[in-house]
Amino acid sequence: MKTGKTLSPAIEQALNQQIKMEALSSSKYLAAAAWCDAHGYSNSAEFLFAQADEERQHMMKIFHYVCDMGGHAISPSIGEVQHKFSSLREIFEYALESEVNVTEAIDEILTLARRENDYPTENFIQWFVTEQIEEEYIVRRAVELFDLMGEDKLALFMIDERIPKISFHDPMKGSEK
Ligand SMILES: [Fe+2]
Ligand SMILES: [Fe+2]
Repeated sequence: MKTGKTLSPAIEQALNQQIKMEALSSSKYLAAAAWCDAHGYSNSAEFLFAQADEERQHMMKIFHYVCDMGGHAISPSIGEVQHKFSSLREIFEYALESEVNVTEAIDEILTLARRENDYPTENFIQWFVTEQIEEEYIVRRAVELFDLMGEDKLALFMIDERIPKISFHDPMKGSEK
């Protein structure tokens, strides 16, 4: 009797690692949001709270995929994250570095899925490949604002105002917004 394809141990491990990474991302964004909130950068805080929620959704997406594919998804334990930052700029540099690391990890899962001819996982992870384009773009744009506007009090106030307005034109979606 054919029982269908399940995840290989290597893929299952890689996906569980990614579950952990998304949970860590969520926790990092939450800590960054709290710092912004405490320092009066309320728009940045709101943006980062929303990012924290999104990362949790990413985690759950992979979690359900592992379960649906007959694997054993591991509820992640994550350690301490950074709670203190020296500036608003540092927050967004920290976010960008984190997003770049996530992109690299996603790429590695795709490479692994291709090597193992695991077409379902290849297809599944493509969503994250596209998502990372947007995630990196938005935080990179945020970091650029500090070069454009400087970091005096007025500039920081204006940057905080600008953060929610950074929009991404998805190249995969043609001319739609
Ligand atoms: Fe994510
Ligand atoms: Fe992200």
